[in-house]
Formats: sequence, C-alpha cells, structure tokens
Amino acid sequence: MNGIHWHVLGVGAIGCLFASTLHRAGLPTTLLLRSPGMEPSLPVRVDRDGCSSVTELPVSAAPEAGQITHLLVTTKAQDVCAAVQSVAHRLDSSSQVLLLANGLGFAGELQDALPVPEYFHGTTTEGAYRLGERHICHAGRGFTRIGRPGHATPPAWFGPWSEAVQPGAWDPDIEQALWLKLAINCAINPLTALHRCRNGELLQPPMAATLEELCGEIMAVSAAAGYAAITNDLPRQVAAVIHATADNRSSMLQDVLAGRGSEIEYITGHLLRVAEHYGVAATRNAALYRSIVNRAK
Ligand code: PAF
Repeated sequence: MNGIHWHVLGVGAIGCLFASTLHRAGLPTTLLLRSPGMEPSLPVRVDRDGCSSVTELPVSAAPEAGQITHLLVTTKAQDVCAAVQSVAHRLDSSSQVLLLANGLGFAGELQDALPVPEYFHGTTTEGAYRLGERHICHAGRGFTRIGRPGHATPPAWFGPWSEAVQPGAWDPDIEQALWLKLAINCAINPLTALHRCRNGELLQPPMAATLEELCGEIMAVSAAAGYAAITNDLPRQVAAVIHATADNRSSMLQDVLAGRGSEIEYITGHLLRVAEHYGVAATRNAALYRSIVNRAK
C-alpha cells in the first residue's frame, strides 16, 4: 500500500498489539527479530474481551538486508538505541522511524548516534500485558498520539496508520503529551516498584503522602521546564490514571518482578537530569530513584 511497510522492533505487549493491529488493517507488517530463526512467519495471539485471535506475521532478522521504509520501535526505553542501531544498515534518509516507548531521553541519544532517518514520537494509553511469548492480553483500550516536534501536519503514512490505530490523533504538541506521560510515570511507576504494589494501593496511606510529595516536586520541575500548563493539575491527573488502572501492576513493577532491567533511567532519571539543569530540588524523587537503582544491583 503506497510503499508503506511497517517493520516492528520489540515484541513485548505493545509491539504485539500494534503489529497485529496494523497487519489486520491490511498494512504490510513484519516483526523484526534480533537473530535469524527457522520460520518465515510467527503467530501473535491477542486476547481481548474473552476472545482470542491469532495473526501470522512475517519475520525478518535485524542483520538481514532490505530497506526499511517505516520502523515502529516499541522496545523498553533502555533498549531503543541498540535496537535501532542493529538495523541501521537498513535505514536511509527516507526511512520513517516512530518511537513508541515509555520515558524520555532516549530519542536525543538515538538521533545523535544515528541522525539519518526521520524520527517521529508517540505515546499511547493502550493497556496490554504479556501472557507468554507473543501472546498478550489487550486489557484496556486507550488513545494513541503521534507527532514530530515542529511539524503541525502529519506525513503521508499517518492516513493509513490512523485508519488502523484508533482512537488516536496527530499531535502538533507531542512534546507536551510525552512530558505529561513522563510526569505520570514518575509518580506511579517507581513507587509501585519499590512497594511491589498494584497501582490502586498508591492512594492508601502511607503511600498517598509520598505520592503527594512526588507530585509536588514533579510539578516544580515541569514548571521550570516550560510544562506548567499541562501539569498544574498533576495530583488529580495521577489519581485519575490510578483509579482507571487500580488493579494493574505498573510496567516498572512488572520489569522488577521479572528480573528485567527497569526504565528508571528514562523516567525518574530523566526528571532528575532536567531538575538539575534548572536547579530545582527533587529530593523525594531522587531518594526513590536511588532505591530502585540500588535494588537492581
Ligand atoms: O507504565 C505503566 O504501567 C503505565 O504507563 C501506567 C499508566 C503507569 C499504568 O500502569
């Protein structure tokens, strides 16, 4: 379709969800694997509303040749740079790379290391978690925003994308949306990972008081960085997300429980770097950051 062929890097919950959504909407979609396997295609199973559907997706190994026109990156934040660099030989100046990962800070690192393709940014509130290898539960429908700083209008591929990925929108202020998501993740994720609790428990004492302190600092950093308008109601926004996801284990808690590396460097770590840049105190967030980083050692 119009030369649009999506390659998807990252076969976690969000990668599987978007790959199967794009493929089912008729857009050529290929899963990118780290190393060559035996099969030309692999099944992705999505459970939703009590039904299970399987989509057979073509696979390609990263080291293979063959240009990538459209790359969707859904890896963990800390893996984005290495994953995209593993397919650098398949990207050129016409390649469109859409980064859809939690956290902030990796995009700048990637653009410095690999300035050639055109980069786009996305954030989604789709709720999905892994049940097994390429087997996910699509637990809650969400909204997906895509944008490119400084670009008010979307590129040609966004038309077919937005017919497939609904609901969603092109967001001319994507940086604001990414920062708000970061702010919410800073409040929820490390605290649930530290206390090994579900999101809903953060609204109970004694965690509720810590949550309030964290939000106060996050708002101060946000204001210094120019994001006051979208975060001036942060405690209420965070509480709304917690209510909507009360039974969920946050992605950071899931990573910690599974013994995987967490995204702390690109969530609270990024907030702390911005706080330092503007000379804003964020001692409660810094203590939480140290607790998560030290636990992982
Ligand atoms: O990372 C997560 O887990 C999610 O972004 C959120 C919104 C905190 C819900 O668990």
